[in-house]
Amino acid sequence: MYVTPYLCSMVIKNNVSLKPYNTFGVDARARYFAEVKSVSDLTRALLFINEEKVPFLVLGGGSNVLFKNNYDGMVLLNRMSGIEPVKETASAVWLKVAGGEPWPDLVDYCVEQGLGGIENLSNIPGTAGAAPIQNIGAYGVEVKEVVEEVEVFDLQKGQIDILSNSQCEFAYRSSVFKTSARGRCFILSVKFKLSKNPAINLSYTPLKKMFEGRKVQSVSIKEVSAAVKQIRKSKLPDPEKIGNAGSFFKNPVVSSGELQNLLKKYGDMPYYPFGENSFKLAAGWLIEQCGLKGKRMGEAGVHEKQALVIVNYGHASGEEILNLAMEIKQTVKAEFGIELEFEVNVV
Ligand code: FAD
Ligand code: EPU
Repeated sequence: MYVTPYLCSMVIKNNVSLKPYNTFGVDARARYFAEVKSVSDLTRALLFINEEKVPFLVLGGGSNVLFKNNYDGMVLLNRMSGIEPVKETASAVWLKVAGGEPWPDLVDYCVEQGLGGIENLSNIPGTAGAAPIQNIGAYGVEVKEVVEEVEVFDLQKGQIDILSNSQCEFAYRSSVFKTSARGRCFILSVKFKLSKNPAINLSYTPLKKMFEGRKVQSVSIKEVSAAVKQIRKSKLPDPEKIGNAGSFFKNPVVSSGELQNLLKKYGDMPYYPFGENSFKLAAGWLIEQCGLKGKRMGEAGVHEKQALVIVNYGHASGEEILNLAMEIKQTVKAEFGIELEFEVNVV
């Protein structure tokens, strides 16, 4: 264990197992590892990184990463905390939330306070700081709808910057943090605008079904949150019990022409309108049609209830999980001519 002279409160450890820090439960090791609780911890860690000339990786809850190998650099675990109301009007409250705050707790806090906007995103694992990175989404809502701005430490410029919602370039499971600013920003905090008069969103069919016979005006955000938690529990494996990182692939988007060709052969294929002249397909359905649902390759497997989720049955290595993902990708490509894209960040 190192304690460098300029690092007083923050300890930099070496050769640390990342198993407790990724929901796949992969036992990769980090050459260096530090818990970052403040901007001064971060600047000190950066001095160390520059001195040692090693790469670094920011980690929140580790619920969207796959470690293919050991990480030969420094892992910075975001443990910055705090939720602060920064503005209030008759209809809305703005919360500045530190990047290391657990996302599910933030949603529960807002629901308790009667603040609407993120109840459909209940129980998505991970941290508030990671939420804008892939613009987390579920049950008809994406986080971009409530993000006002994102405060980052820009590691290239060595300064703190604020990005507005439009500068974040949000898209389906994407943002500027996954494209042109990839690996450049440490997200310190996110400012969310939440509604005091929430509009209930039951656009996602299975969610709507749970409230059949009810007028939407009579449904509360507490009930929506509870319903979302129930649906999630029935479909998605609990990482505490079985390692996984949620959907391994994104749902593919095709043009209207491509959709028509596919429908000629696969008439019962589910699809959803997505923007202008585009359609989203269900990757889980494509994988299931290839007969891969429940398939096992060593300790890695395709989840039995949700084919979009790859699970670790015990001691799978990152490589084993990646091999299964590649096999799925190739099989879907051969059957449907569709190139699945990873949602999970492979490190
Ligand atoms: P990590 O996995 O730690 O990191 C993800 C990426 O972001 C990495 O590239 C990392 O370097 C980077 N990063 C993390 N924090 C920071 C930061 N502060 N600054 C800069 N870079 C950072 N996602 C959905 O969108 N919808 C779902 O419904 C959903 N369901 C899931 C269900 C399960 C069971 C699981 C395990 C995952 C699910 N996910 C879902 C994926 C995951 O929960 C989200 O992507 C989440 O936002 C990841 O947060 P994290 O803190 O764990 O990020
Ligand atoms: N489907 C199958 N077989 C399967 C899985 C799904 O046929 O094994 C079909 C379903 O029958 C349904 C369609 O695929 O017709 C969609 O399935 P589901 O509603 O379960 O959602 P999804 O498209 O598989 C997406 C997100 C999830 C999010 C849910 C709910 C992506 C990549 N995944 O999954 O997000 O929770 O919708 O909104 O967009 C994540 O990103 O990690 C994640 C879990």
